[in-house]
Amino acid sequence: MSTMTAAQLAAAIPKAELHIHIEGSLEPELIFALAQRNGLNLPYASVDALREAYAFTNLQSFLDIYYAGASVLLHEADFHDMAWAYFLRAKADNVVHTELFFDPQTHTARGVPMATVVRGLASACARAQAELGISAALILCFLRHLSEEDAFATLEAALPYREHFIGVGLDSSEVGHPPSKFSRVFARCRALGLHVVAHAGEEGPPAYIWEALNDLQTERIDHGVRSLEDPVLVAELAKRRTPLTVCPLSNLKLCVVNDLKDHPMKRLLDAGLCATVNSDDPAYFGGYMNANFVQTVEALGLSRDDVITLARNSFEASFVSEARRAELMAALDGTIAA
Ligand code: HPA
Ligand code: ZN
Repeated sequence: MSTMTAAQLAAAIPKAELHIHIEGSLEPELIFALAQRNGLNLPYASVDALREAYAFTNLQSFLDIYYAGASVLLHEADFHDMAWAYFLRAKADNVVHTELFFDPQTHTARGVPMATVVRGLASACARAQAELGISAALILCFLRHLSEEDAFATLEAALPYREHFIGVGLDSSEVGHPPSKFSRVFARCRALGLHVVAHAGEEGPPAYIWEALNDLQTERIDHGVRSLEDPVLVAELAKRRTPLTVCPLSNLKLCVVNDLKDHPMKRLLDAGLCATVNSDDPAYFGGYMNANFVQTVEALGLSRDDVITLARNSFEASFVSEARRAELMAALDGTIAA
C-alpha cells in the first residue's frame, strides 16, 4: 500500500460504516422493482424521472422523497433484499463492519408489522456475516418529528425482537425537535442496556449536541458538523472522545456545505475529534462509502495519515466486542503494511 495515494488508500483499506439509513440505500431501480413486485403505482413515470427528483435544498426536501421511496417496502423479503443490496455495495468498498439505522415508524404507520421489518433486516445481517464476512448490527431510530409517546410505543413494539438490535438513534426533521424532547424514552433505552446515539448538529445548533450529550447521554453524535461553532463543545467532545459520524456527500447534497472543499472534516480531525466517514443515504446523495471517502480526501487534500486515522476512528467508534475491535484494527494494520 506504500505507493498508493491517500485517495487510493482510502478506497483500499478496511473500514466500518456507522451512519447509514438502510431505507436510504434503496436505489431507484429497486424502488421500481419492489413497486412492481407488490402491485403498487408510483407517482413517477420512470427510474430516470425519480432520480431527477433528487435535487434537494435542505433536509426536509430530502425526507419527503425518502419516506415516499420507502413506501414500496411491504414484506419481509423486501426489507431483506434492500439490506442485501447494501451489503454487496459495502463489500465492494471494503466495509468490514456496519451498524444500520432503520426507521420502523415509517413502516408501522403504513400497517407493516414490526416483526416484518426486523426479521427481514436481521436475516440480511446474518447473511452478510455468513456470506461476506461483514459484521452487521441494527440501530432502531425514533422519528423526532413524531411524539415521545409514539417513540415509547415503538420501543414497546420492538422489545419482542430485542436480540436483533443493539441500540437506538434519533433521526428525521431536526430543527424544532431537540433531543430533550426524547429524554424519558432514551433513559428507558439506556436502562434496557441499549446503545444510544442521536443525530445532532446537522442543521440544528450546537445546543442540540449539548442536549444529546447531557440529556440523552448519547455515546456518539450523528453528523455533529455544527459543533465547530462552539469551541467549548469541541473541547468537551475531544475530552470525552465522543465519535462524530460525519457524512460528507449528504452535507453537500442537503446544502449544509456549498462545496466539498468547504467541508469541516479536516477541521474536525485537526481539533482531535473522533470523526468518521459515512454515506448516510447513499442512494440519494450520490455515493456509497468509498465515494464519500475518496471525494473528501481529494477535495480537502487529506493525507495518508488522515485516512488511516479516519479508518481507525471508525473501529474505535463501533459498538463491537473488544475482541472484534482488535481483529478490525489488526486487519487495518495488515493492509497498510502490505
Ligand atoms: N438526517 C436526519 N434524518 C435522516 C437522515 C439525515 O441525514 N437520513 C435519513 N433520515
Ligand atoms: Zn443520518
